[in-house]
Amino acid sequence: MIETPVDPAQVEGFMGRVMSMYAGAMLNYMIDIGHRTGLLAAAADGAATSEELAGRAGLTERYVREWLATMVSGGIVEYDPPTRTYTLPPAHAACLIDGRGPINLAPFAAFQTHLAKHVHQVARAFKEGGGVPYAEYRPEFTDVMDGASRGFLDAFLLDYCVPLVPGLADRLTAGGRVADVGCGTGHALVLLGRAYPQSTFVGYDIDDAALARGRAEAAGAGLTNVRYEACDAARLVVDEPFDAIFVFDAVHDQVDPARVLRRIHDALRPGGFFVMKEPHAADALEDNLLNPMAPILYGCSTLHCLPISLAHGGAGIGTMFAEGLARQLLADAGFTGIDVHPVAGDPADAVYVCTK
Ligand SMILES: C[S@@+](CC[C@H](N)C(=O)[O-])C[C@H]1O[C@@H](n2cnc3c(N)ncnc32)[C@H](O)[C@@H]1O
Repeated sequence: MIETPVDPAQVEGFMGRVMSMYAGAMLNYMIDIGHRTGLLAAAADGAATSEELAGRAGLTERYVREWLATMVSGGIVEYDPPTRTYTLPPAHAACLIDGRGPINLAPFAAFQTHLAKHVHQVARAFKEGGGVPYAEYRPEFTDVMDGASRGFLDAFLLDYCVPLVPGLADRLTAGGRVADVGCGTGHALVLLGRAYPQSTFVGYDIDDAALARGRAEAAGAGLTNVRYEACDAARLVVDEPFDAIFVFDAVHDQVDPARVLRRIHDALRPGGFFVMKEPHAADALEDNLLNPMAPILYGCSTLHCLPISLAHGGAGIGTMFAEGLARQLLADAGFTGIDVHPVAGDPADAVYVCTK
């Protein structure tokens, strides 16, 4: 065997990179803890000692101090030794606290915490084939997904997605029928149901617990025009067709995405609209490398989107749903006039709008 000479400086440089990846992984968990416990929000209220912060958040000081040490050494929180006070800089708070910046990234940390628990199962699938059934990720995945998508829906559904569909707002104001397939905890329909009281909204999902949360939220909002039904989208059959069907992040990880899209097509009235917000990628790996989120997205794919599809012998599209493939699947299902719209501030996703 001929040994290729290795540059020690390159080895050292890469070791540094690996260590910073491991540090990033730990900081991910710290952000997750800070979000779950309210510590990030407490820290954003101004400089404080660990005792004061623990008091503000109602937490155990010794844990808070260790968390702060991690956050300070990771460059997220600043520390002033003379006063023993910790500060979350405003620019950092703008990324990690609700309402302080364009988007709160803290809820996304829960994805990595959650997916890490499934590494051993996915590694087994690498060796033995198959995958990890969706049920294995529940109920925690439901919470994580809700935490990640709720902010998007609040920010974009009524003001961005609905106006992308010609005439939809007027139709819904007058009274129409809309479905959300793979609705999860159903927040989208609560927003729509409240905005368009003359219209009827139905959410479909295979997860009873997620649907129960949707029902509770809709009931809490006093909505009688929103309902949720347990249904496998691959078997969706409706008595009365819909004017529009939405899907948010629930096509790319299907066992049989082509069949789901056909069922959605059949469930629309002629001229009805299908709107799907899905991950947006290029077909070739090399064309996705400039996307700074690519390692996160391919990682989520490896640990979740791919194994839940492959667990049942599925298509295994994965998270990086290429626009070319998406267009092909939509056209094969019978959709026409396919338009692809960017999502502001979110280069990883796109909103597809098409017509039956
Ligand atoms: C990634 S989550 C997205 C949930 C929700 N749309 C959101 O944006 O928060 C995918 C959802 O699709 C549901 N799902 C997966 N396969 C399904 C199927 N064949 N039929 C109906 N729902 C399905 C899952 O239970 C899950 O709630």
